[in-house]
Amino acid sequence: MRKKIVAGNWKMNKNLAETGELIAEIKRSFNNPSKANIIIAPTFTNLYYAFEEFKGLEITVAAQNMHHAENGAFTGEISADMLKSIGIETVILGHSERRAYFGENDEVLAKKVNTALKHDMTIIFCFGEELQDRKGEHHFSVVENQLKNGLFHIDANQWSNVVLAYEPVWAIGTGETASPEQAQEMHAFIRSAIAKAYNDSIADEVSILYGGSVKPTNAEEIFAKPDVDGGLIGGAALDAESFEAIASAI
Ligand code: 13P
Repeated sequence: MRKKIVAGNWKMNKNLAETGELIAEIKRSFNNPSKANIIIAPTFTNLYYAFEEFKGLEITVAAQNMHHAENGAFTGEISADMLKSIGIETVILGHSERRAYFGENDEVLAKKVNTALKHDMTIIFCFGEELQDRKGEHHFSVVENQLKNGLFHIDANQWSNVVLAYEPVWAIGTGETASPEQAQEMHAFIRSAIAKAYNDSIADEVSILYGGSVKPTNAEEIFAKPDVDGGLIGGAALDAESFEAIASAI
């Protein structure tokens, strides 16, 4: 059975003191074991601190990005080895903000995927169409191409280290959510694309998260859809109470 996952992407929010406060609140609100695996991705400067703070609790701390090179002259970048050396085993790759503002294309992402998998990390691979793609009714082909070009080169046995996050760009931080039906339709399409490229059992086992304006008020109906295995949460993950409410909606 595939895993249910609720992940909080804190993006470029929370300094060290604020990170400490939010972690303390999360620890207080998550005293009942959730049915979902919980992942939290703070910013790089607070990763080690967060990792130490959550140690022993069933909360995984993830990075929001990493570079594909092993090391070298890449000023400002972070390697897989650096992450692993502080205990981080999970990394978000291909977030639409990385694609849109930092020029990450499918080719670069494929390299990042390879490096993360080589280091036996778990990747949360993000993708999703823009508003113009959906309006033009080519959202399925855009998503399929992102998957084919960035991810579908991996070996069948590497899929156990992959979580997918479908995040339609038009729904991120906009307050506009894909309807549960739109999310289900796309998640089912993604699963069928994986079945076509690999096989039914890989398609059936991979967790596919939905991201884009998930809130306590809409989480339950989105998570109730059969092909939605949880969520990647931005804004609402910055508040412990709403993040807990979303995690409980699984
Ligand atoms: P919001 O939940 O703020 O729309 O962000 C979604 C997201 O980008 C998570 O990675």
